[in-house]
Amino acid sequence: MYKSFFKLSRNPFELTPDPNCFVPTKHHDEALAALYYGVRRHKGLVVVTGEVGTGKTLLLRCLLQLLGQSKDIAYAYLFNSTLSPTEFLQYTLFDFGLPASGKNKSELLFDLNKFLVARGTGDLTTVLIVDEAHHLSADTLEEIRLLSNLETPDEKLLQIMLVGQPELDEKLDSVGLRQLKQRIALRTQLLPLSAEETQRYIEKRLQIAGAGSTSTQIFSPSVVEAVHRCSQGFPRLINTICENALITAYARRLPHPTVEIVEKIAAEFRLNGFCQPEDTATKGQGKMGPEQVSGILLDLHAALQQPTSGDMSGTHA
Ligand SMILES: Nc1ncnc2c1ncn2[C@@H]1O[C@H](COP(=O)(O)OP(=O)(O)O)[C@@H](O)[C@H]1O
Ligand SMILES: [Mg+2]
Repeated sequence: MYKSFFKLSRNPFELTPDPNCFVPTKHHDEALAALYYGVRRHKGLVVVTGEVGTGKTLLLRCLLQLLGQSKDIAYAYLFNSTLSPTEFLQYTLFDFGLPASGKNKSELLFDLNKFLVARGTGDLTTVLIVDEAHHLSADTLEEIRLLSNLETPDEKLLQIMLVGQPELDEKLDSVGLRQLKQRIALRTQLLPLSAEETQRYIEKRLQIAGAGSTSTQIFSPSVVEAVHRCSQGFPRLINTICENALITAYARRLPHPTVEIVEKIAAEFRLNGFCQPEDTATKGQGKMGPEQVSGILLDLHAALQQPTSGDMSGTHA
C-alpha cells in the first residue's frame, strides 16, 4: 500500500530471508566465505553462530544458492534440529534422496557411509547443513561427530555446516563435546551491524526495492541514526522498525519517516534497553585472514548475482 507512495517496486524490508536482498557486511562476508571455503576445500566442520535476527538463515540461503550452481555438490539442509539421532539420520538420508523409512540406525549409517564413500571416490562434494543447530541434543551432536570422522587419507567425506544461536557455542564448549569442538576447522560469528553498516543496509535494501538514488531522501541520516540506536544493529529489528516507519509515514502522508516515528515504534515494540552481545565466542579458533576472505568474496558476490530458482527444499543429490 505504501509502495507507490514512496515509488518502490517491492517491500524493501520483507522479513523473509531472500538472497536477492543480501547486503554484504564485514561479518556476513566473513561467515559466507568460511562456509563456502569449508565446502569447497573439504574442511569438514564449520560453525557459524549469531544472535536471533542477525542473518544466519539468510546466509544459509545464499550458500544454498551458490552450492546449487555446482553440479558436483549434493547437500542436505536441516532446519528442524529437535530430532533424535535416528530421526536426524533418516531426515539426512531422505534429503540426499536415499530411501530412509523403516530403517534402523545401523542400516541408516551403513547406507549413508556407502553413499559418502561413493561420492568421495567420484570426486564429488557432499554437504550437511544444519540451521538452528543450537537445538541439537548432545546425542545428535555426538552422531555428527561420528559422521565428521568419515574421511579418506586426504580429506573429509562429509562437509558439515552448523549454524545457530550463541547457545551452540556454549554447547560446543562443554566438556562432553570437546572431541567435536576439536574437529571444528572454521568458526565465525555474526554480529549486529555498525552504525555505518546500518546506513548502507537501509540504503541498499531501498535500492533493491526500486528506490534508486532517492533512498537517502526516504530515510534521512538522523532517522537512520535513530533506527540504528533502537535496533542496536540487528537486521531483523532494522527491518521491523523501517517497515513500520514507512507505514506510519504513509498513514500520516509524510514524505519520509521522522525520528519521532522511529522512537515511537521502538517503544511500541519494547526495544528500549536492548542489550548488545560481545564479540567473545569465536576466540580466534579457525578464523580466516582478511586476504583469504576478500579473495573468496570476489567470486561469491559475482555468483550471487546469478538468477535462482528459489527452491531450497527437497532432494539436492
Ligand atoms: N546481510 C543482510 N542483508 C540483507 N538482509 C539481511 C542481512 N542480514 C539479515 N538480513 C535480514 O534480517 C532478517 C533476519 O534474518 P534471518 O536470516 O532470518 O536471521 P536469523 O536466522 O539469524 O534469526 C531477514 O529479513 C533477513 O533478510
Ligand atoms: Mg534463522
